[in-house]
This record gives sequence, structure tokens and C-alpha cells, in this order.
Amino acid sequence: MNVDKIVARQAAYYANDAQDWANSAHSVLFPRMTELLDLELPKHNRYAVCNLRGGIGKSTLTFNLAYDAGDVLAVDTCPQANSTSFFTQGSPANGTTIYDALLPYLLPRMSFPSGIAQKVEGHNSYFDGKGAYFVPSSPNLYEFPSIMESALSQARGIPGESDRAITQILNSMRDLLDRECRKTDTRKVLIDTSPFFSGATHLSWHAVDSLIVPVRTDQQSVDSLKLLLELLQNKNRSFLRAQQGLDLHEPKVQMVVLTHCGWSTRAGAQYEPNNQTKVYLKKVKQVITDNIDCFTTDDPDNHIVPLDDFLGTGRIASAKQIPIKCLSPQQSFTIGGQRVTVNDSVTKCQRQLSFISQNIWA
Ligand SMILES: Nc1ncnc2c1ncn2[C@@H]1O[C@H](COP(=O)(O)OP(=O)(O)OP(=O)(O)O)[C@@H](O)[C@H]1O
Ligand SMILES: [Mg+2]
Repeated sequence: MNVDKIVARQAAYYANDAQDWANSAHSVLFPRMTELLDLELPKHNRYAVCNLRGGIGKSTLTFNLAYDAGDVLAVDTCPQANSTSFFTQGSPANGTTIYDALLPYLLPRMSFPSGIAQKVEGHNSYFDGKGAYFVPSSPNLYEFPSIMESALSQARGIPGESDRAITQILNSMRDLLDRECRKTDTRKVLIDTSPFFSGATHLSWHAVDSLIVPVRTDQQSVDSLKLLLELLQNKNRSFLRAQQGLDLHEPKVQMVVLTHCGWSTRAGAQYEPNNQTKVYLKKVKQVITDNIDCFTTDDPDNHIVPLDDFLGTGRIASAKQIPIKCLSPQQSFTIGGQRVTVNDSVTKCQRQLSFISQNIWA
């Protein structure tokens, strides 16, 4: 598997101009820097950030992409509520949760709550003036899959009305997003999901245009990517099986973000991935190539974007709920009585995040 283009693209972020690029070793294979930087992906308004594995960067990425997006509606569907606490700067979330908002679609005698999305700047001052909203999560979401399963099985039993009832349940997140986007005058949506499919992730897939899939540089994450792609396309698996031939939206994958990447420190190396990163860039490209029908274009090189390991910067950003874009190299913070400094590499991560943002939004 050849990953030269993906690696060269990283170097292209740093070239100042065409002359600078012409001097780079990568320009031999890729003479036109601008062609490398435009992924030519279709651009969408609504994304779910998901992979069926924990701790790979879904919540961190959702929070940081939301910061970049500005006027966005971010929805936390993971019962661990990690992105909720990013948005609330660690305070307990008040108000209507995504669980409260979805339940009336499943239990028809319940009334719909009003006032769901909350403005982020009221909770996290780094979002001042951003026009971003969020819908908090709730630990009740741990029970949501079984409630949804029994609602679906009741719906299947309604004579003559089952298609309408199943559609109403499976399109509940989509309907909720339509309403909340209208109310908050936002167009962009980012959904943070749990590492599990059943329940809110399932509903999110019907609600978004496409998926952003973080994959960490380890074998388990690559295996979860394979599982996710299998779920997306296998008619015998729960996602397509639950639709029972109804005409519901099926998302494609826009981008696999390879998180926790490392780069060679060898003298003279120009944005060359270290060996572990290279191994996983190749493995991920192979999986994408084998499942290209699940992606938004037919060129695997368009769909892998490396994102460096945030190192100590990630610890600071998580502990203080600060977007990576708001940190500067060598800035110091005290966390748990320990002095921690922002790594110089933060500027590279900031450029990588900008590149992801530039290639997703309509
Ligand atoms: N490039 C990166 N992208 C995302 N996270 C990173 C990266 N490098 C380091 N990290 C760190 O990895 C951890 C990822 O945790 P995060 O909570 O975002 O994962 P998650 O996939 O949402 O987990 P869960 O499935 O449990 O909700 C964070 O501590 C983050 O700082
Ligand atoms: Mg998470």
C-alpha cells in the first residue's frame, strides 16, 4: 500500500509557497502543491463522529471541530458525557438532555420538551462569539438501546401502520436536528457518539449526511473500523436489517482521522511518519480500499487524514476544557499540582485540525 500522497500532503501544509514546495523532496512525486491540499470531497452539513471503540479521540475531535466550525449544533449522544463536560467546562449539565429529547419519539404519550439546545458560550468562555450550541448527554442513555428495541418491536406489530411507526422512530434524531437547527439558526451539526452502535448511534447514522471515523494507531481501532464498515453495508446486520426495506438515509464515510500519529525525529526527515504510524496508514488505506463503496469518493487517498498525538497538550486541553486552537507552544498550566507545558508540536496539530475542517463543511 502506497501512502506517499498522504504523507506529502502533511508536508504541503507547511510549505509557504510554490517555490518553497519546489525545494521539498516531496515535490518530485507531487509537483503541484495545491492539488494535494484540495481533497475534492463532497461537502456536507451534518456529521457523526464515530467508531465502535473507546478512547480513540471521538469526543476530543468533536469538541475541537465544533470550535473551528463556529455556528454549529453539537450533540453528545455518549452516556459518558465527555464532550458535554468539554462544553460545560466540567460543570454538571442542566437542562434538557438528548435522552429527554428523544424519548417522546419512542413513547408516544410523552410530550416533547421545548428549549433543548444550549448556547456553548454561556458555559465555556473559549466559545464567546462563536454561535455554537450543544445538546447535553445523560447517563440514562445507557438504557436507551433497550427502550428503543422495545419501541421498534411494538411498532412492527401495529397493523397497517408499522412502516410509519418504524420510520418515526428511526428518523427521530433527524427530526430533532431539523427542529433544533431551525430554532438556533445553525446549519452545521456534529454528533459525538458512544463506542456502541445500538440506540443513539443507530439513530445518528440515519440523521447525518456522513461519518467522520477516528482510528487510533493500534490494531483494535483498525478492527473496529472494519466492523463499522461491515455494519454500514451488510443487510443482515442491525443497521440495514432494522429498516426493513424502508427508504431511510444511509450515510457514507467522509474521513478516517488517524489519531495519535507520530513522526520521525531522524535528522533530515521531512514530515516522515514514524514506523508505527506508517504501518497503520497502510493498514487503514487497505481497509478503505477494500470498502471504497462506503466512502464519499472512490479515491482512498482522499479519505485518510493523520492527526498527531496531542501528547501533554491533550492532557491540558482535556483537564481545562480548552480547544487545541486556543493553546500556544510553551504555555504552562498546573494540573493536579503538576506543572504541564504545551508542546511545540501544537501548531502542527492546529494546522491538521484546520485541514480537516476545510474539507468537511459545505
Ligand atoms: N490526535 C488525537 N486526537 C484525539 N485525541 C487525542 C489525540 N492525541 C491524543 N489524544 C488524547 O486521546 C484521548 C482520547 O479520548 P476521547 O475521550 O476523545 O476518546 P473517545 O473516543 O471519545 O472515548 P470514548 O469512546 O470512551 O468516549 C484524549 O485524552 C486526548 O487528549
Ligand atoms: Mg467520547
